[in-house]
Amino acid sequence: MTPAQWKEKLFLVRDSFFSSLAGIQTGGLEALELLYFGRKGDLSLLLRDLKDFPLEERKALGALGNEVKGAMAAKLAEKKGGPGAGKADIKTPFSDLTMAGYPFPKGSLHPLTVTINRLTEAFIKLGFSMADASLIEEDYYNFEALNFPPDHPAREMQDTFYLDLKDPSGKDLLLRTHTSTVEIHTLKDRRPPLRVFHPGRVFRCEAVDASHSFAFHQIEGFYVDKNVSMADLRWTVDAFIKDLFGSSVAVRFMPSYFPFVEPGAEVEMSCVFCKGHSGKCPVCKGSGWIEVLGAGILHPNVMRATGYEPRQWGGFAFGAGIERFAMLLFGISDMRVFYENDLRILKQL
Ligand code: PHE
Repeated sequence: MTPAQWKEKLFLVRDSFFSSLAGIQTGGLEALELLYFGRKGDLSLLLRDLKDFPLEERKALGALGNEVKGAMAAKLAEKKGGPGAGKADIKTPFSDLTMAGYPFPKGSLHPLTVTINRLTEAFIKLGFSMADASLIEEDYYNFEALNFPPDHPAREMQDTFYLDLKDPSGKDLLLRTHTSTVEIHTLKDRRPPLRVFHPGRVFRCEAVDASHSFAFHQIEGFYVDKNVSMADLRWTVDAFIKDLFGSSVAVRFMPSYFPFVEPGAEVEMSCVFCKGHSGKCPVCKGSGWIEVLGAGILHPNVMRATGYEPRQWGGFAFGAGIERFAMLLFGISDMRVFYENDLRILKQL
């Protein structure tokens, strides 16, 4: 037998062993072992033939023979032993089940998602449930039912993206400019008492700078029942802002105008950066206060538009920018950071 023939035989023995091994159940393992590893087994006989080769060749072929024998024995042990069989296989690659895995880099949640999750938890604790609403909207839900009559100047406050598509009444569909649309949908679809919040994306045709983007996020909350008052609004807003920023934060209401609430308010919280101690703070511009949301008591026209008698039913609503909260939570001064996905920044958050 030439060395080449011996090698070929060795591989034949190995391959037939592996295919027999794959085909049998535990019951036939011992017979198979005898057939190859026994004193007269195919592998043993072949290894014994090595003695006929000259020393140099015997060494090389012997090493190969042992390697193949090791691999065959390991596979046999694996099949015999179930999970513990890893031990027999310890020198072959990928077989140590106790070894630590590769260090796959793990991502993390986007700061806006973290902020939405924090807000969601806060509202669920207060007994609010989450509602959904669509991004493409009819004029009726974004403006008209919210007491923005056609040509009302307040529509100008929210520069709107219109689509080249018509709604059922023949008006252009639009990208919603605020999450207050969820008030109308919910009031029409469900019956009070309603305690609902809705975080989501909104769109305004605004130039992009450090504090504006054509797409951003808002969270809307509202409560409709009998006898809901400004005091309930005051308490609820106070509770969720303190949940987010801690109980030492102060909250104040300033009169403001939104067509769908009366009275309406702008809500400010005390500056979490300078705590009112720095005249030069870039976040609150030295005032010690940061505007965080719009709020108010739902206008009687909104109640009427959705089929409710305003003397009987009423409620409060508020809407806040999520980017603003995220900037305050993470100490970010430029909101473009949220959309650029620059890993050098996201890794620090
Ligand atoms: N929708 C208003 C805005 O986007 C905010 C708001 C919501 C004000 C609810 C009052 C009540 O500016």
